[in-house]
Amino acid sequence: MTTKRLNTQVAIIGSGPSGLLLGQLLAKQGIDNVIIERVSADYVLGRIRAGILEQGFVDLVRQAGAAHRMDQEGLVHDGVIIAHNNQQTRIDLRKLTGGKSVMCYGQVEITRDLMEARQAMALPTWYEAPVTNLAGITSDNPKVLFSHQGQDYELSCDYIAGCDGFHGISRQSIPAELRTEYERVYPFGWLGLLSDTPPVNHELIYCRSQRGFALASMRSHTRSRYYIDVPLDHKVEQWSDEAFWEELHRRLPEEAAERLVTGPSIEKSIAPLRSFVCEPLQYGRLFLVGDAGHIVPPTGAKGLNLAASDVAALYRLLNHAIRQNDPSCLQRYSAAALRRIWHGERFSWWMTNMLHNLDGVEGSAGEGADTYQKFMTSELDFYLNSEAGKTVLAEQYVGLPYEDCGVPDPA
Ligand code: APR
Ligand code: PHB
Repeated sequence: MTTKRLNTQVAIIGSGPSGLLLGQLLAKQGIDNVIIERVSADYVLGRIRAGILEQGFVDLVRQAGAAHRMDQEGLVHDGVIIAHNNQQTRIDLRKLTGGKSVMCYGQVEITRDLMEARQAMALPTWYEAPVTNLAGITSDNPKVLFSHQGQDYELSCDYIAGCDGFHGISRQSIPAELRTEYERVYPFGWLGLLSDTPPVNHELIYCRSQRGFALASMRSHTRSRYYIDVPLDHKVEQWSDEAFWEELHRRLPEEAAERLVTGPSIEKSIAPLRSFVCEPLQYGRLFLVGDAGHIVPPTGAKGLNLAASDVAALYRLLNHAIRQNDPSCLQRYSAAALRRIWHGERFSWWMTNMLHNLDGVEGSAGEGADTYQKFMTSELDFYLNSEAGKTVLAEQYVGLPYEDCGVPDPA
């Protein structure tokens, strides 16, 4: 069987939010791109994920021309509640950051909107087409090899964007001796439940209780998303809806728990928590974007937002490199993206440590678990009772500014 050959300027591996957003922004600038995705579009849309968008992300979706539904249906949140020992503290995001807020709109919906915008522009996307190999990455004409319905293809391109998530092939294509991977795995997972019930509160509640962590989030005025932390060895089958609601009720602050409306789950799953960064994010003409290069625990709502800032940096640099025929500017991608990624990693780690009971986990300074808990509850108490502390939290929750990549913004 002969391999069929195709061409494009930018080959994008993965049609998650990173790949779709990058593809749309590049297309708006007249840059040719092809997306290759291992699974079907429906499978991609079946993965339930977080839903808090920073302003930078919202602006990019608008630039990409896919913001119509988000602007109609997304809920603007000016504040977020942190509960500790039954006491609720509101972080007034808008007041503490000089007018910034976040938007609550599900990742699944963003993905769907980007897919539709891509389809409307008739841009090429290959679904059920696993990428099996990347060749010539350090040459100026790399190739992406994939198969689709039993046929092998070779996509020849100028640049490859590895937007293929944590388990993708892109990161593995950087020789092991040239990359360093930093990782922390946490001893618990988040059990999440989605239900068509009104949210317990109009703003999110992050909660540290004696019984563990809880988060009350939402997708709309009629759809709620809740999480509790559970030991890593728990299986979702051992958690009936009733058991979940009962445990959530016991962890939420009493005043909120009284308002909790329960109902059957639409989706229920357990996600492990991990901090992970690969350095560098570039090898030759391959660039890692989003979950392919880094993972954060979800406690700071940063996963999707860090993917967006990678896209913003790579899109600007690719645009400049292609228009000015100056690929050298792309050398700046990794350092620029990593600086903001590490801020997001640190914030997510910090929020995770403050809001969970890390029983049995010793602190990095060598103190025992009990001592570590005391430090962390004191840390939370301090930040929630200081204007300066709340400002530090708010500034990071709404999202730090994007890095300046030294090239003009095409928008
Ligand atoms: N060939 C083609 N596609 C692949 C391959 C492969 N070999 N390996 C993985 N993929 C696809 C996956 O099927 C997936 O659809 O790459 C896509 C990666 O998408 P995501 O995992 O959603 O990653 P990303 O787009 O970077 O999204 C980041 O997702 O996990 C959250 O917290 C994260 O919210 C953030 C967002
Ligand atoms: C969610 O709504 O799924 C969500 C919100 C905030 C987080 C994590 C998840 O920090």
